Amino acid sequence: MKILLIHGPNLQLLGRREPEIYGGQTLEAINSHLREIAAGQRVNLKAFQSNSEGEIVSFIGDNIDWADGILINPAAYTHTSIAIRDALSAVNLPVVEIHLSNVHTRESFRQHSYISPIAVGVICGFGAYGYDLALDAMIQILQRSD
Ligand code: DQA
Repeated sequence: MKILLIHGPNLQLLGRREPEIYGGQTLEAINSHLREIAAGQRVNLKAFQSNSEGEIVSFIGDNIDWADGILINPAAYTHTSIAIRDALSAVNLPVVEIHLSNVHTRESFRQHSYISPIAVGVICGFGAYGYDLALDAMIQILQRSD
């Protein structure tokens, strides 16, 4: 199984960015923890972070023949990006959307997602543990579709 793990803008600052909202773990800690779990399940994980919408769109398209599924925290692009949604639809792979915070308890502009309608499911509000849940969910999804 080959799974993309995509992180959107400002998530490179995890650990220092509003830790009361996003937790104290760094992005590297989240990635290496997830790589460890993935390796134990014989999953090949490719992680990517960008602050640029275009780079995220290109990364998704560039991996159309590599990936079996996509885990993505689109961060602020969740609420704005038709381009990322279209890229995800274009590659036609199962998507799990992740948010560290519970966006539904926050500002109203965070409560609309362009990504959710094309995702298999959404995990939010569990902090970094949400990535573990998302990986587990994706493995189940891909096993079912075997
Ligand atoms: C976020 C929630 C978004 O609203 C916000 O713009 C982020 C992070 C989260 O993980 O909780 O950057 O996706």
